[in-house]
Amino acid sequence: MSRLAAKITGVAGYVPPRLLTNADLEKMVDTTDEWIMERVGIRERHLADKGVAASDLAVEAVKKLVAAHPFDLQTVDLIVVGTVTPDMMYPSTACLVQHKLGIANTWGFDVSAGCSGFLYALNAGVKFVESGQYKKVLVIGSDVNSSMTDYTDRAVCIIFGDGAGAVLLEPAGEGEDGIIDQVAQIEGVGGQFLYMPGGGSLNPASHATVDQKMHYIHQDGKNVFKYAVKKMAEMTERVLAKNGLTGKDVDCFIAHQANRRIITATAERLGMPLDKVIINIEQYGNTTAGTIPLAMQTALEEKKLKKGDIVLIAAVGAGFTSGATLLRWAY
Ligand code: COA
Repeated sequence: MSRLAAKITGVAGYVPPRLLTNADLEKMVDTTDEWIMERVGIRERHLADKGVAASDLAVEAVKKLVAAHPFDLQTVDLIVVGTVTPDMMYPSTACLVQHKLGIANTWGFDVSAGCSGFLYALNAGVKFVESGQYKKVLVIGSDVNSSMTDYTDRAVCIIFGDGAGAVLLEPAGEGEDGIIDQVAQIEGVGGQFLYMPGGGSLNPASHATVDQKMHYIHQDGKNVFKYAVKKMAEMTERVLAKNGLTGKDVDCFIAHQANRRIITATAERLGMPLDKVIINIEQYGNTTAGTIPLAMQTALEEKKLKKGDIVLIAAVGAGFTSGATLLRWAY
């Protein structure tokens, strides 16, 4: 019997309306539009208003998904949410999304993998579809990075934005291949370079943790950058080689949007022309778990993604976490 494959049958992204431009940031910290565009490639990001949380962005993304690819939400049997900015430590964001959408009979959980959050949530969802146990899986990436960003730290506040995206996973038909293969790896030695030390069981929230700015993103940008460039190339090459392919076989490369230079360095290493590479970091910044579904939406809007295309997805994030997924676009 042939393997049961999972395929993506819809995607939608959502960003909150409020904009934070480089011109705004120039008034807040010692930076320039020129520096940010040259070193990172971001012009503007979208930020959630106070009181708008990761589950709210996720719900909006799912509503857009249903509008674009109509299906009965009540048939969803699994919700997997990638996020590092859950509404609360618990309940899970998956539970909050389930409740807000009123999906009566489903299962769900959150995945914490930093900027690889969507990719890891996708990996999990795919395995549950391939097992034959679940048939309609919502995979969501949602992050409100502004909730943990220090807007006096110029090396961090220029990078991050808020956003979410959702895909629907369903079993592929006989002979269809959908998600072809995935590779992923964690290397905890990287935890020291990108983390939020406060608010967990190690440093529970207190006046002291707030005074010491422990509830903000702590980042050693140089080390994260070096690792991301090396690892994204390694993971993409690994998944391609495992399947007897090279960068030349890829029709569309959708990478986590952390820094334009990380994406183009990977594409160059793989020998991929830039017209096959999706880059929307200029508009959205790094939305952590939101970037990949938002970039899928961009790819569709720019008509760079069509049925039958070989698509390569890759991410590197806090942890360190990394991964690459190879798939055939199904619609
Ligand atoms: N505007 C102007 N200057 C800035 C700046 C800003 N927003 N942020 C940092 N600088 C300065 C630094 O202070 C430093 O000045 P100095 O030489 O006087 O000390 C100089 O620019 C170079 O800093 P450096 O850290 O070497 O810059 P960089 O080219 O590595 O760019 C990042 C910094 C953060 C943009 C880059 O390292 C990066 O993208 N890292 C990866 C981050 C990431 O992807 N995080 C998410 C994980 S998925």
